Amino acid sequence: METVVSGIRPTGNLHLGNYFGAIKSFLKLQEEFNCFFFIADWHSLTTHPHPDNIRNSARTILAEYLACGIDPEKATLYLQSDVRETAELYLYLNMNAGIGELMRTASFKDKARKQMHIADAESDGSVEKEIFNENNKHSVSAGLLTYPTLMAADIIIHKAVKVPVGKDQEQNMEMARRFARRFNTTYGVDLFPEPASFYMSDKAVKVPGLDGSGKMGKSEGNAIYLVDDEKTIHKKVMKAVTDAGPKEPNSKKPEVIANLFTMMEIVSSKEAYNFFDEKYNNCEIRYGDMKKQLAEDISKFCAPIRERILDIQSNEDYMAKVARIGAEKAHESAAKTLKEVRQIIGFRPE
Ligand code: TRP
Repeated sequence: METVVSGIRPTGNLHLGNYFGAIKSFLKLQEEFNCFFFIADWHSLTTHPHPDNIRNSARTILAEYLACGIDPEKATLYLQSDVRETAELYLYLNMNAGIGELMRTASFKDKARKQMHIADAESDGSVEKEIFNENNKHSVSAGLLTYPTLMAADIIIHKAVKVPVGKDQEQNMEMARRFARRFNTTYGVDLFPEPASFYMSDKAVKVPGLDGSGKMGKSEGNAIYLVDDEKTIHKKVMKAVTDAGPKEPNSKKPEVIANLFTMMEIVSSKEAYNFFDEKYNNCEIRYGDMKKQLAEDISKFCAPIRERILDIQSNEDYMAKVARIGAEKAHESAAKTLKEVRQIIGFRPE
C-alpha cells in the first residue's frame, strides 16, 4: 500500500474551507492508502517561537480532525513533536541543503520581509540585503529558513510517495523532492522515493469567504468554524456582503453573490439552490431569505461535527490514548527509516 503523508499547521479552529478543501480528501485517502496525518507543531515555532499554549492548540486540532471522521484505526494521526526521529533526519538534510536555495523560496522571502519590516514595495534583493545589514535590529530565524527541510523530513521519514497539499505548497514540495534526490545521490543509494504532490484543489471545493472577497480563511476573518453554534453561524451568514440585486434577467452574478451561491451549492439541497438561482435570474431574489436558508443548511452540516468535537474534547482519556497510539505507530515507521539513514551515513544504526 502506498504511503501518504500530510501535515496540518495548528492555527486555530478548523473552518468550512478546511473541511471541503482538505479534510474531505483525507477521509477518502485513509480508506485507500497508508496515511500519516500529523499536526505540525514544530513548524509553528518558525514564526511563533514562544507559542501560547501549543499543547492546547494541538489538542483542539486533534479533536476536530477526529470529529470530522479521521479514523485513528485507519490513519496514523500524531503530533510532529512526538516523533523525534524527524528532527534527526532534518539535521542530516540541512547538512546538504544550500542557504541560497532556501533563501530563494517565495514563502521564506514573504515571511522574512515581514519579520525584517521591509515594505512590500521594496525591490527584490532587499531581504538578502537586510539580513546582512548589521543595523537592522530585526532578525529572521534559521528555523524559518529551513522550514522546507523540516517539511521534507516529515515526508520522507515515512518514505511517502503522495502528499496531499494545497497549491501554495508547490515550492515546498519541489524542495522536498530535491532533498530526497540529493540524499540518494550524495550517498549513492536509492532510499527515498520522490514524493509527488497530490493537489486536492481540483476535486476539492474552494469555499468562499463571507466578506465577499477570496476564499475562506482564519486570517481573512471571514470563516465559519466547524465548532460554531447555530446562533453564531446565523449571525455570520446574515452579515455576508450582498448587493442591490440584479436589474436584468439572467445577469452574471458579481463575485459576492456568486460566492453565496457557491456556499449554497456545497451545503444546501439542489432544490434550494435551484430555487434561489431561478429567483436571481428573474430578478426576484431576496438575499435575506437566501441567507436564512444558507445559515440553516450550514448549521445542519456543522451541528453533528460540533457535537462530536465537544464530546471528544471532554474525553481526556480518549484524546490521550489516540495521541499515544498515533505517536507509537509513527515512531515505529520513522525509527525504521532513521536506522537506515544512520547506517548509510556511517553512524551506529541504533
Ligand atoms: N507546510 C504545510 C502547510 O503550510 C504544512 C506541512 C508541514 C506539511 N509539513 C508537511 C504538509 C508535510 C505536507 C507534508 O500547510
